[in-house]
Amino acid sequence: MRLTDLAKHLLRPLVAGAGILVDGTAGRGGDSLFLAGNSPPSAEVYIYDLQPEALAMTRQRLAARDLTDKCRLHLADHRQLAGQLPPAIDVAMFNLGYCPGLNKTVVTDPEATLAGLRAVLERLNPGGALSVIAYRGHLGGEQETAAVAGLFSQLPADQFDGFCTDVCGRGTSAPRLFVAVRRGGPVAG
Ligand SMILES: C[S@@+](CC[C@H](N)C(=O)[O-])C[C@H]1O[C@@H](n2cnc3c(N)ncnc32)[C@H](O)[C@@H]1O
Repeated sequence: MRLTDLAKHLLRPLVAGAGILVDGTAGRGGDSLFLAGNSPPSAEVYIYDLQPEALAMTRQRLAARDLTDKCRLHLADHRQLAGQLPPAIDVAMFNLGYCPGLNKTVVTDPEATLAGLRAVLERLNPGGALSVIAYRGHLGGEQETAAVAGLFSQLPADQFDGFCTDVCGRGTSAPRLFVAVRRGGPVAG
């Protein structure tokens, strides 16, 4: 199972009951399709990317599944996310790095990523979750992954449960999945 599939598997039950969802990195639209396709019809999905081509491709794929009505696509840099996010969020996904099939020189960077992730964490509802997949193989990826790990390690333990996975047997350049869940949501039976 790829980490992208593991993230979806973990978030799926929350997505099914979510009202406000965020895809912080539209890319080719895979995560947007997942969020829009598995959330209730009344849910709203806020989608961000700084590449117009990413938003165009995502919009096209959403339209093919008749999912555009519930989606709000925004051309935005993660540095500006605080001013563009909805005030409360149930589920958010970030898939960092560059997008295969698009401009590979457009890569997420630690400063912008941390600004975007902080803005999302501040808005997470009780029981809400943020997933982040960080890649170490590309230029700057090691630093970005370390920055995300640092952010997650500093989450206040009375407010968040934070998790991260390591892929076994793939060496030190394997990607990592981080998940933060804001405490105070309904307790699963
Ligand atoms: C790995 S791709 C996302 C993959 C996508 N979630 C999918 O399912 O296809 C990373 C995306 O982040 C975007 N990106 C890079 N730096 C960014 C920034 N500072 N602000 C917003 N988006 C950024 C890139 O344009 C790229 O489309």
